[in-house]
Amino acid sequence: MSIGINKAANAIGAEISGVDLSKPIEPQTVSEIRQAFLDHCVIFFRDQTLTDDDLMRVGRYFGELQPLPPHRQFPGMYPELLIVEKKPEDVINFGWEWHSDTSHLPIPSLGSILYALEVPKKGGDTLFANQYVAYETLSEDIKEKINPLNAIHANGRIHNTLKNNRIPKRGEEVASAGHSDAWSTHPVVRTHPETKKKALYVNLTHTESIEGMSVAESQDLLHFLYEHSTQDKFTCRFKWQKGSIAFWDNRCCQHAALNDYPGEYRLMHRVQIKGTKPA
Ligand code: SIN
Repeated sequence: MSIGINKAANAIGAEISGVDLSKPIEPQTVSEIRQAFLDHCVIFFRDQTLTDDDLMRVGRYFGELQPLPPHRQFPGMYPELLIVEKKPEDVINFGWEWHSDTSHLPIPSLGSILYALEVPKKGGDTLFANQYVAYETLSEDIKEKINPLNAIHANGRIHNTLKNNRIPKRGEEVASAGHSDAWSTHPVVRTHPETKKKALYVNLTHTESIEGMSVAESQDLLHFLYEHSTQDKFTCRFKWQKGSIAFWDNRCCQHAALNDYPGEYRLMHRVQIKGTKPA
């Protein structure tokens, strides 16, 4: 074993040491990192100094990079590079609620690699929650009920939040759904294509309804699942420093970026790895 692995919390996350990602990585080390990623759902690196080319090279060790849709691309930047920036005057931060990235797309990304360039003096941590454990700890009755269900995922809640500069309250889901312009249907319980384990796959940011039910009718079950799946005991909390990296698996974890640093600046660069259709 050429890397060090230190668990971040009981349920999820591990910090990897002994790797300088600014240099080409040996295939054996890549496969150790990949195994740690599969075992822990999210892995972290510290004290890295990467260019955007390095970040994209690191992403490509784990799959093909997913370019951003044209309207999300940043002029003069690589089409695969997402800039996650919060300015002192911004109210809403990127990724402000629990989610699995791009689950409103037919093929959501496998995972994201987020690299910290500037962090606030305090705050700006990111939470991660293990969705295998979330599924495993449901009662057999609930598992039986949700196993055959599909859910509709969309982007209305994001549009609604950005339009009003305010996070919608419980009860405003139908209003949020009115803002959606992209939808995809995925199983409520998905099987991870590599580990073959089952994971809960609904999230507050994107999931709009259960297939066959109205948005309003779906909310009791969905909110039960959101609360269940993000309990503290399923989570870890990552404290960023300049040069930190988080690489998470959207197929088995959710994440949320804390918005507790008003008036400060935070800047991250992110690449996304192409996924497969959830099944
Ligand atoms: C995200 O959802 O990708 C943002 C996470 C973060 O900025 O910590």
